[in-house]
Amino acid sequence: MKKDFLLLRHHSTEELTALLDLAAELKAKTKAGQPHPLLAGKTLAMIFEKSSTRTRISFEVGMHQLGGKALYLNSGDLQMGRGESIADTARVLSRYVDGIMARVYAQSTVDDLAKWADIPVINGLSDLAHPCQIMADLLTIREHKGSLAGKTLCYVGDGNNVANSLIWGCIKLGMRVRMACPTGYDPDETTMAWAYENGDFACSPDMLAMASGADVLYTDVWASMGQEEEQAAREAIFAGFQINQAVVNAAARDCIVMHDLPAKKGQEISEEVFEAHANVIFDQAENRLHAQKAILVHLMQ
Ligand code: CP
Ligand code: NVA
Repeated sequence: MKKDFLLLRHHSTEELTALLDLAAELKAKTKAGQPHPLLAGKTLAMIFEKSSTRTRISFEVGMHQLGGKALYLNSGDLQMGRGESIADTARVLSRYVDGIMARVYAQSTVDDLAKWADIPVINGLSDLAHPCQIMADLLTIREHKGSLAGKTLCYVGDGNNVANSLIWGCIKLGMRVRMACPTGYDPDETTMAWAYENGDFACSPDMLAMASGADVLYTDVWASMGQEEEQAAREAIFAGFQINQAVVNAAARDCIVMHDLPAKKGQEISEEVFEAHANVIFDQAENRLHAQKAILVHLMQ
C-alpha cells in the first residue's frame, strides 16, 4: 500500500524516530559530500496554493540531491485553479510523477489528493498542520539537546498549524509540551484533547508560568498565511505574547529558542532574542532539507 505524510497523528513513535535517524544519516552524507541518489529518476510534483521560501527550496534541492527532480506547480497556473477537481488532478499526476507535495489552505485538499492519488502525498503545510516543519524541529532539538524524551518545549503565540503539529510530534517523542496562547487562540480542540490524555501537556495564557524551566522556547507569527486581513486585530490581541528576554529568563538557563520562519521581529519575538539564538533558528531552516529527504526516501523509494 502506498504511504502518505499528511498529519503526524498518523505516524507511530517508532516510525517518527526512524525518520529522524534517517534524516541524521542523510545529513551526514550531505555534509561529507557523499552522493546518495536514492530516488534516481523519480519526480516530485510540488503544488503551492500559498507562498514559500523554505519548503519550496528544500524540497526542490532535496530531490536534486537524491538524484531525482522536482516540479514547482503554482496552483493558480494549473487547471485546478480554474476548477478541475482534486480527484482528477490527483489521478493525472499519478500517471506522470512518483510523489506529490502540496501546500494548501484546507487540510481536506491534501487529504483528497492522497485519497485519489496512487502515489505518496506529503503535506507541505495546511491551515491545520505543518508536519514537515516539525520533523526538522525535532531533529534540531535532538542535535542541540542530545535527546527528546523528558525535555520541555514551551510554545508562545497563536495555536496554529505549527502549534498543532508540535503537540503531536513532541508528545509522541516523549517531550513535555506547554502552550501559552491568548484566550480564544488555543490549538485545535481534538489535538489538545489527545495531548491531555496521552502526554504531559498544559495550555494557559499565563506565559511566564508556561515558560518556567523550559528547555525549548518556540514561537511563530501572530497572523498566518490566509489571515492577512486579521493582522491589525491580531497585533492587539497577541501584544503580550512575545518571546523576549523576560521569557528567556523564565526558561531553563541553557534553553534554546526556535522559530519556523518567516519571523516578524518585534512582534512574536524580540530582535535581540532572535539574533542571540539565530544559530539554532537557521539550523532549523537547514534541517528542513535533511528531514524532508528522509520523508521522501521513506515514501518514494
Ligand atoms: N517554515 C516554512 O515553512 O517556511 P516557508 O513558508 O518559507 O516554506
Ligand atoms: N503559521 C505560519 C507558518 C509559516 C511557515 C503560516 O501558516 O503562515
